[in-house]
Amino acid sequence: MAHLVLGIESSCDETGVALVRVQGEGVPQLLAHALHTQVAMHADYGGVVPELASRDHIRRVVPLTKEVLAQAGQALEAIDLVAFTRGPGLAGALLVGAGMACALGAALDKPVLGVHHLEGHLLSPFLSADPPEFPFIALLVSGGHTQLMRVDGVGRYELLGETIDDAAGEAFDKSAKLLGLGYPGGPALARLAEFGDATAYKLPRPLLHSGNLDFSFAGLKTAVLTQARRLEGAACEQPRADLAASTQAAIVEVLVKKSLKALQATGLRRLVVAGGVGANARLREELNAACAARGVRVHYPELHLCTDNGAMIALAAAMRVQAGAAQPSQNYAFDVKPR
Ligand code: KG4
Ligand code: ZN
Repeated sequence: MAHLVLGIESSCDETGVALVRVQGEGVPQLLAHALHTQVAMHADYGGVVPELASRDHIRRVVPLTKEVLAQAGQALEAIDLVAFTRGPGLAGALLVGAGMACALGAALDKPVLGVHHLEGHLLSPFLSADPPEFPFIALLVSGGHTQLMRVDGVGRYELLGETIDDAAGEAFDKSAKLLGLGYPGGPALARLAEFGDATAYKLPRPLLHSGNLDFSFAGLKTAVLTQARRLEGAACEQPRADLAASTQAAIVEVLVKKSLKALQATGLRRLVVAGGVGANARLREELNAACAARGVRVHYPELHLCTDNGAMIALAAAMRVQAGAAQPSQNYAFDVKPR
């Protein structure tokens, strides 16, 4: 059984490294984590530039690893297992984390384990002060994915529904761009929405009454585009804030209603929300209210662990090994799975 697990995340624009300790069957304990975000570097380009991302991961991953070990008061040699994000993500960026993990593993003569990025997000609420218990419904809402899952245990995931086009985070990001807001768009749109009237614009809620648990956000983006064009050159800021608030309300309503539907369909009374969009305050408010009214418990990751980080990767690896759901290996001929 691995006791100290180092986790490395490098799938997109954050380099994250973390160390967790496994003790028996309990939830692994986060000893230290460090993160470098590339947001400022990509902001000038309006989005993530893959090659710049890879080059920056290379610059950061060794110093962050040293920082984590120093924070935890542990020597490099104390690491029992090195975990990395195997995918999905940007190929070049993933290769940096995988390369670092396998080089460390080979040098230390310790096993390595590639982890699915979404499983990291999914399990991240276990690091919160109020960890969930299995089984639960998971609403996974990131920049690349929007999924509802039934989760019966580590590695026991049943996909109930997912987006047929854009992800919820993508809907936030693309709408933000149309509103002339910077990258990353989600938090920027949420800030502008605070000053707006969410009922000002009637925007579509695609697939809301589809009868299944799938999502679609592409039509919403088109509607936002139409409205944003009308606002071009407008002297007053209020309509933009109103459009931001209306967009956020449309995305949130769909996420909340479909989550409730998944709970109802399965009879489960526990909801776990994970992924970057899970940081959205309006989503949390509405889910909290809807779930409280139905006697459903909701769990979120700590706010700073909603977006990409190394802690969730170390945790997912540790929990998979604990559950016997993964076999770490000393084959250092690693590969990554961008898609
Ligand atoms: O999980 P994540 O860090 O990366 C992926 O795996 O995709 O999620 C990033 C996404 C971006 O689309 C970002 O705009 C969105 O999460 N996001 C938010 C908020 N914070 C991050 N969306 C809405 N409100 C927020 N507060
Ligand atoms: Zn992510």
